[in-house]
Amino acid sequence: MFDVEKIRDDFPILSKKIYGNPLVYLDNAATSQKPRQVIDALVDYYENYNANVHRGVHTLSMEATDKFEEAREKVATFINSESSDLVVWTRNASESLNLIAYSWGEANVHEGDEILLTPMEHHSNLVPWQELARRKNAVIKFIPMRENGTLDMDKVDDLITERTVLVSAVHMSNALGTINPVRELGGKAHQQGAKFLVDGAQSVPHMPTNVQELDCDFLVFSGHKMLGPTGIGVLYVKRDILNTMEPFLTGGEMVLEVSYQEASWADLPMKFEAGTPNIADSIGLGSAVDYLNSLGMENVRTHEKNLTTYALNRFKEADLDGMDLFGPDDPEIRGGVFSFNTVDVHPHDLGTFLDRKGIAVRTGHHCAMPLVRSLGVAATVRASFYLYNTEREVDILVDGVTEALRYFRDGSE
Ligand SMILES: Cc1ncc(COP(=O)(O)O)c(C=O)c1O
Repeated sequence: MFDVEKIRDDFPILSKKIYGNPLVYLDNAATSQKPRQVIDALVDYYENYNANVHRGVHTLSMEATDKFEEAREKVATFINSESSDLVVWTRNASESLNLIAYSWGEANVHEGDEILLTPMEHHSNLVPWQELARRKNAVIKFIPMRENGTLDMDKVDDLITERTVLVSAVHMSNALGTINPVRELGGKAHQQGAKFLVDGAQSVPHMPTNVQELDCDFLVFSGHKMLGPTGIGVLYVKRDILNTMEPFLTGGEMVLEVSYQEASWADLPMKFEAGTPNIADSIGLGSAVDYLNSLGMENVRTHEKNLTTYALNRFKEADLDGMDLFGPDDPEIRGGVFSFNTVDVHPHDLGTFLDRKGIAVRTGHHCAMPLVRSLGVAATVRASFYLYNTEREVDILVDGVTEALRYFRDGSE
């Protein structure tokens, strides 16, 4: 059922050569590649029914509106939202988080209130809270992390107090691969009356997501990391909270009645979607969801878990001198993200060496600067897998790193 070679045929870019070598794309945590089906959906929109949505009586506009709203339905079903009107289109996970920080945060976070985060947050789930805390004189706290890159859950009960208004946590870390126990964390937040936000930017693309089971108040993610186009993101909010939130941006499309003096807001979710939306890319994301559903998210997770187990074993066997692999070594609580540091070879040198072999990895702080610094390094090399990666590609990576270390240490490949 999950035939990775057949899947690879759907991704035109995967047959590309880099410096004469087959592309080994291992930068999926940054963005995923797109299958032909998604590319075709974008072309189909522009070639056959390009029109603005929600305001036209003509055929093209009605077709565009139907497809645009159908995409929202698909996304809602994909995350098991009780309704598609709780799914707000944004540009990306970052915009979704900023929307929450302004629309919900401005009204609900007050002086002395506490926001609890994890130390492994992407800057997008850190900086908006820092800014909100600065505006409001609120306090940000962090759940301590254990040596193996997992959260010290024993400390959480003491950290959530009656002043805690929000607990916000990444489901799967983009820098360590750690899969956090978000269900448990949400339960603890709710016990104290705090709201619970899940950053699903790295989890929604890689495992089944069920917002009702997670019982999260907010979920954010980006289309481009889950086979969809760039420029389209998602914000899910529980109805009772979304109903109380003020708009983030105002203008056309999000209004019901407007006079020269004032305006009233449209129903959910349009109230949060000012201006002409990203029609093509929402439809593209709908097509990505169809593609993921055709594979089955359980199968995607199983494939990546197997690949992660394989990669953990391969790196262990290779026993590379001076190489530190970060994150937990249990594939049950780790996604396919491999961040590592080599004592005497700079990550950028290693990344450039690998690129010459056709291997695309990321080097740097992965928008998690405080975390990477807390590991005692300035940067890491990160290889991240997706549903189209193979064990053969893991071999190429491990061999490539082995060769690179030999090259930089004693000048021989
Ligand atoms: C965990 C996590 N959260 C948020 C983001 C932000 O996503 P975007 O850049 O699409 O807004 C990323 C992107 O890498 C991420 O990995």
